Amino acid sequence: MDNSSSQIPSTALITGASSGIGAEFANQLAAQGYGLVLVARREDRLKGLASDLEIKFQVPVEVIMADLSQVPHLERVVSRVVELPNLQILVNNAGFGLSGKFEQIDMRIHELAIQLHVLASVRLVHAVLPGMLARGGGSIINVASMAGLIPLRNVTYGATKAYLVHFSRTLHQELLGSGVRVQALCPGFVYTEFHSSRPAPRSPRFMWSTAERVVSASLATLERDRVICVPGRIYRLIAALGTSPLIFPLISSAARLILPRRPS
Ligand SMILES: NC(=O)c1ccc[n+]([C@@H]2O[C@H](COP(=O)([O-])OP(=O)(O)OC[C@H]3O[C@@H](n4cnc5c(N)ncnc54)[C@H](OP(=O)(O)O)[C@@H]3O)[C@@H](O)[C@H]2O)c1
Repeated sequence: MDNSSSQIPSTALITGASSGIGAEFANQLAAQGYGLVLVARREDRLKGLASDLEIKFQVPVEVIMADLSQVPHLERVVSRVVELPNLQILVNNAGFGLSGKFEQIDMRIHELAIQLHVLASVRLVHAVLPGMLARGGGSIINVASMAGLIPLRNVTYGATKAYLVHFSRTLHQELLGSGVRVQALCPGFVYTEFHSSRPAPRSPRFMWSTAERVVSASLATLERDRVICVPGRIYRLIAALGTSPLIFPLISSAARLILPRRPS
């Protein structure tokens, strides 16, 4: 943990911290001594996690209940963020999956995905960056997906995650030498509630990971200042080969077998 810029304890802000990967970021960062600001819609979940982490790791944890796809909620979070005296880490993690064919999904759902994955993430980065630059350091983790690296199913979901990948890569370039690190975290299948409201992919067990492994990989990669983090060897191989015109048709056929069938 970097406290060098200030004697004030370092803080990490995590969106979508009420379950899954976000809750695990909260757990691992609290274990490293970070004070936390946790954001999501389910306040009971956030409060339960906050009191567990405060007791276990003796760190301050603040909870903000907000639907980040709604501009007034997002702006409420932004006004709190800019007041934080030593925000060292922002994790843009809040997200949800879409299932079905593009034209069959309600347009409002496409809009919500774009608002949450893209607009909320960009807004929060824009809010935290001046403070990080003034302090000479900080880290921004944008939770994207393998779907943001390789275009398979889930048109809008993949496109919003591809935005986060490109955004992170370019921002990383722009910030070289500033002390601020940027990462796009691109997991494959992870056992979380993300899959509980939709048909689960029928992929073999070796293609699944846990939130604990994904977050450990992300934080280790951050130390090495690498902008793209793909946890797991199988996914690193797919990411490396997947855009090749020779390999992509094979991956695309495999995905047709693995991913949930869409209603015709
Ligand atoms: N699980 C996977 O296989 C997988 C793979 C690749 C990438 N990802 C990405 O990982 C991230 C975390 O997902 P997860 O797997 O941990 O699933 P999860 O357990 O369902 O967690 C999603 C989190 O996002 C929050 N969230 C959803 N909509 C929100 C909104 N409108 N405003 C504020 N918070 C909202 C949820 O909290 P509330 O419901 O309390 O608001 C929850 O804390 C997502 O961005 C997802 O796209 C997941």
